[in-house]
Amino acid sequence: MNTFTCIAFGIIVFIVVVKILNVVTKGRCTSKAKLNGKTVLITGASGGIGKETAIDMAARGARVILGCRNLKFAEDTKQEIISKTGNTNIVIYQIDFESLTSVRKFSKLIHENESRLDVLINNAGAMGLGNKITEDGLHIMMQVNHFGPFLLTNLLLDLLKKSAPSRIVTVSSLGYILTLLDPDNLNKPRRFDELNYFNSKLCNILMSNELARKLEGTNVTSNCLHPGVIYTPLFKHLPWYKRIPVSLIFPFLFKNTKEGAQTTIHCAVCEKVYGVSGKYFQDCKEYWTLPIASNRELDVKVWNKSMEFVKLQENEIHY
Ligand SMILES: NC(=O)c1ccc[n+]([C@@H]2O[C@H](COP(=O)([O-])OP(=O)(O)OC[C@H]3O[C@@H](n4cnc5c(N)ncnc54)[C@H](OP(=O)(O)O)[C@@H]3O)[C@@H](O)[C@H]2O)c1
Ligand SMILES: *[C@@H]1O[C@H](CO)[C@@H](O)[C@H](O)[C@H]1NC(C)=O
Ligand SMILES: *[C@@H]1O[C@H](CO)[C@@H](O)[C@H](O)[C@H]1NC(C)=O
Ligand SMILES: *[C@@H]1O[C@H](CO)[C@@H](O)[C@H](O)[C@H]1NC(C)=O
Repeated sequence: MNTFTCIAFGIIVFIVVVKILNVVTKGRCTSKAKLNGKTVLITGASGGIGKETAIDMAARGARVILGCRNLKFAEDTKQEIISKTGNTNIVIYQIDFESLTSVRKFSKLIHENESRLDVLINNAGAMGLGNKITEDGLHIMMQVNHFGPFLLTNLLLDLLKKSAPSRIVTVSSLGYILTLLDPDNLNKPRRFDELNYFNSKLCNILMSNELARKLEGTNVTSNCLHPGVIYTPLFKHLPWYKRIPVSLIFPFLFKNTKEGAQTTIHCAVCEKVYGVSGKYFQDCKEYWTLPIASNRELDVKVWNKSMEFVKLQENEIHY
């Protein structure tokens, strides 16, 4: 064999192994739990795995709140959910995590209009937004993926506690293992843009863990998860030289959106997860994490800094 054949053979073996691993580890949520009379809020529900999650929650009978930025996409999603599940109890509220004012406005409307909240699913997220600074003076990737959801979760805790037993589910990413988080400068710009994304996804785990501690004894649980790798519009902001390989490789190698939604659904409804809190899930199973994602000191530090950055007021603290 010459070198070229060797390399080509190596690549093919690698692809086959990845594909097989992906197929055999793929988890499915097998729970038949019904959600009649319950309210589930999903952020970023108008596309990708958020939409699949919303369809599943609606099929179980829940009142489903779609927290979306683009109202046109949200309306299309609502119609699709109704036609697929027959559940018409679907409502849309607008939220844009690029603005903390929008997050507070969203929470105010929810409090005015909704009497309960049984499951909060922090699903919205973005990649490839660069090193911009938001109107709130924060790094855009950190705000959309962490500070915004952090503020929202805090603002909704009163409603979640009132509706206990209730669950908070935060969609993180295995990409957290590639982080270089500087807890003393959470808004530090990074030349390698994926690092901004991975850092923010680590913060999702740290928030989820600290939240679980702060909510001990309340019957409100907090868990986070890696959904798998799924070809979704998440990659739409990447430059073409990254987007094209992703669009060629990901759909073939990894999960589809329905498969990608399973771990979120598992954490949101499965009886086996009842009372479980402060854990990290993958493929519908509890998973271990690297020390950086199970370090109480770091959890508290990032929590306290996040409180400062979103200017959490005394009357917005519900734990
Ligand atoms: N796909 C993967 O391989 C993968 C892997 C690990 C983790 N994840 C995580 O899974 C979650 C869902 O991602 P996905 O793959 O389903 O991607 P997606 O299809 O792009 O869904 C992300 C959702 O978040 C919304 N969103 C983005 N920026 C927002 C903002 N500023 N304000 C409000 N909503 C905003 C998007 O709304 P618009 O349509 O308005 O942009 C979209 O509905 C994300 O948290 C992501 O980090 C995905
Ligand atoms: C709030 O509830 C009222 C009455 O049920 C309804 O008319 C209104 O559209 C709701 N607002 C939102 C944003 O869903
Ligand atoms: C939590 O749930 C248990 C079991 O249902 C109940 O006994 C307890 O009072 C609840 N605690 C709170 C704070 O709601
Ligand atoms: C975090 O904030 C809490 C409450 O204000 C405080 O008691 C604690 O000492 C702070 N910890 C760190 C590491 O900043």
